[in-house]
Amino acid sequence: MNGAREKWTSKLGFILAAAGSAVGLGNIWRFSYVTGTNGGAAFVIIYLVAIILIGYPMMVTEVAIGRKSEKNPVGAFKALAPNTPWWLVGALGVFSGFVILSFYSVIAGWSMAYIFKAIAGFTPGTDFADVFVGHITGTGVPIVWHAVFMVLTLGIIAAGVVKGIQRWVKILMPVLAILLVVLVFRALTLPGAGEGLAFYLAPRFEDVTAGTFLAAIGQAFFTLSLGMGAMITYGSYLTREENVADNGGWVVGLDTAIALIAGLAIFPAVFALGYDPAAGPGLVFITLPAVFAEMPAGSLFGFIFFVLLSVAALTSAISLLEVVVAWLVDEKEWPRVKASVIIGIVIFVIGIPTSLGMGPWSNITIIGMEILDFYDFVASELALPIGGALTAIFAGHVWKARTVIDETNDPPGAIKIGNWYGVLVKYVIPIAVFVVLITTLIDFFG
Ligand code: PFF
Repeated sequence: MNGAREKWTSKLGFILAAAGSAVGLGNIWRFSYVTGTNGGAAFVIIYLVAIILIGYPMMVTEVAIGRKSEKNPVGAFKALAPNTPWWLVGALGVFSGFVILSFYSVIAGWSMAYIFKAIAGFTPGTDFADVFVGHITGTGVPIVWHAVFMVLTLGIIAAGVVKGIQRWVKILMPVLAILLVVLVFRALTLPGAGEGLAFYLAPRFEDVTAGTFLAAIGQAFFTLSLGMGAMITYGSYLTREENVADNGGWVVGLDTAIALIAGLAIFPAVFALGYDPAAGPGLVFITLPAVFAEMPAGSLFGFIFFVLLSVAALTSAISLLEVVVAWLVDEKEWPRVKASVIIGIVIFVIGIPTSLGMGPWSNITIIGMEILDFYDFVASELALPIGGALTAIFAGHVWKARTVIDETNDPPGAIKIGNWYGVLVKYVIPIAVFVVLITTLIDFFG
């Protein structure tokens, strides 16, 4: 009964869905706190280099693998390299999907809870660090929001690719872009915004360490949804009439623009009110409500912001769940609804320790990290870069760079992938990722 694979039905379907996957908590929550803790502008520059040299070529690679094979990540490697162990790279991706979504949903749950805190009102003089800690250390409430977010995610995925993903993303993405521009305008007109702009745009290279490079590479993979097969999966729903290089270019461009714009909204505001840019994962949740409280109509802006963040998280979460569900539907022939519900519940359960790790389980650390940081480290700084580097080696040496180049240029589009692509995937990307990874790990454990 395996008919033709379901495809995006509108021209913008892929771009919107893939940009919806890419743009998420990674652009706003993670980009701002990782930039803040890694010294600002110097990190931003390394991150941009990683986007150009690693992010774009890997985006094109994953979409090409997906479109050619019309499969989930595990099935795609099996189809392109039958009877080899390469499918394990796809399996690593499915593993990353479980881990990332489990903590991603917890953070998205904080964001949804903050929509209601904004409705209740952000009042000047409140200690927002207290409010944040009070919220995340709770036992029940954050887990309930985590559950609500997982139910929304699995509901959309159960509805199927076109009816679910494409329809929702088409409504949600433009709303997000408009809301963000409103916020930048507000932040840049606050008195004292200039110092934040300097932190964000004027590099101090003395702050750069080996860890900065891994953080930048990890962020590049995370923010573009690369290294775990999400773009292989979305590429598998792309029709042969579309050009891969152009579509990939749109997604990378939109994602990078949104992160850079989010930084423009966040850092000027943080400095204008004397907050600490290196506050860590709480940056968005502590400093921004404080900023909102200090400005006219602040609760309204706060409400808009957290709706924006939750919406962005949802369109990313559906792609994380889709990777796992597509694997079960294609490879194990599970019905879509059953796969969505069961996996949704399993991921919800795996995520619970990251939430408890903020409160009742806060004394538990793994290799010196809180449970949430540990999940994020394993997925974003280990699994995604390793998965990505292996995918690059596969594309360059096994499936062959020439095949990928032909696939991406068929039909021809505005961007033409040339022989430089082969140099990047065969040598530059795997070597850069493994050198940075090993250097950082030696620093860390040595
Ligand atoms: N790119 C998403 C973000 O920036 O929030 C997170 C993500 C989604 C990572 C899908 C990986 C993925 F496969």
